[in-house]
Amino acid sequence: MADHAPSIARESVLKPSAELPEDMPKIRGYDFNQGVDLKALLKTYMTTGFQASSLSLAIQEINRMIEKRLESVEVDKENESEESCESSRKSGCTIFLGYTSNLISSGVRESIRYLAEHKMVDVIVTTAGGIEEDFIKCLAHTYLGDFSLSGKELRLRGINRIGNLLVPNDNYCKFEDWLMPILDQMLLEQNTEGIRWTPSKMIHRLGREINNTDSVYYWAYKNNIPVFSPALTDGSLGDMLYFHSFKNPGLILDIVEDIRKLNGMAIFAKKTGMIILGGGLVKHHIANANLMRNGADYAVFVNTGQEFDGSDSGARPDEAVSWGKIRTDAKPVKVYADASLVFPLIVAETFALHADKLTAGQKAD
Ligand SMILES: NC(=O)c1ccc[n+]([C@@H]2O[C@H](COP(=O)([O-])OP(=O)(O)OC[C@H]3O[C@@H](n4cnc5c(N)ncnc54)[C@H](O)[C@@H]3O)[C@@H](O)[C@H]2O)c1
Repeated sequence: MADHAPSIARESVLKPSAELPEDMPKIRGYDFNQGVDLKALLKTYMTTGFQASSLSLAIQEINRMIEKRLESVEVDKENESEESCESSRKSGCTIFLGYTSNLISSGVRESIRYLAEHKMVDVIVTTAGGIEEDFIKCLAHTYLGDFSLSGKELRLRGINRIGNLLVPNDNYCKFEDWLMPILDQMLLEQNTEGIRWTPSKMIHRLGREINNTDSVYYWAYKNNIPVFSPALTDGSLGDMLYFHSFKNPGLILDIVEDIRKLNGMAIFAKKTGMIILGGGLVKHHIANANLMRNGADYAVFVNTGQEFDGSDSGARPDEAVSWGKIRTDAKPVKVYADASLVFPLIVAETFALHADKLTAGQKAD
């Protein structure tokens, strides 16, 4: 028998390594012997690896957006136009926030409301459910249920399920009672004052009407943050607009005026940052607006989508770079996670951490 293992095996297994740079982060997680310190624990995410590191990179990227946003920018009179709204003119970085409807159904709503309340973002894009669920929550509660509750049983009881959340169907009846007179009034203003309604103008109006500090869109209205939702009919709002079209026909919503406004906000911004929770319309609508300026300067995606099916929802930021929706020199981050787990942590380590600087100079109400 030979003294040594075959050399091919030894060379394969014991192949020498190239030197790695001394400053390369070394993997090390949190030591609970330090006690339970959630802030310190979160700090160790960068060197924990996997999505924990991605979350830390996302926090860094958003803090870069905030730092840039705080830089005061001279107003360029030549570029000033109806599209370049007040906030984009003042901000060194216009921050676009997008989120799917279910996040307003969930408690992520309160993190989003905080950002709108303190005027920490400049533009919001969401889908229809992301609008109506915010107002409905001002009229009645959404409850914690279970993913496994039977659809048949729930239907018999008039309870709707969103993941493990439950929404009584009565909530939508209350929503109808609240909304219909507002739609009547909007139609009257269209016909008598020539108001051309758009989804963003309608959301602004509803934010005023709800007059409730729990609402994201109340604060968006107060702080003049435009909220875009081009598919506003794909939800209970669409059901109500449908019913209203029989009861009191004629209300028109113009999506062309809104796309001009949204794209203008990207084009005339000094720099732009995209924070997009979830995929589908909200992800693409913000990214497409940023194509108009040859790409966003900063980007964070938080979603559970995968790219193997070619979906836009699952596309990594690098795909958006290929389209000119993110700049080639940007350092975009994608966190593969349920936003309900990570977005409150992101807000804690970014906007809330820098709240003093971000809100300095804002008028007291
Ligand atoms: N509460 C609701 O969810 C609700 C209510 C009424 C209407 N709708 C309508 O349903 C349609 C589809 O909804 P949508 O476009 O808002 O998104 P969606 O629920 O279809 O999600 C789109 C993608 O976003 C990602 N995503 C969703 N939730 C996530 C999470 N918690 N964390 C990380 N990634 C996540 C997933 O990749 C998902 O495939 C819209 O037109 C909307 O108006 C939804």
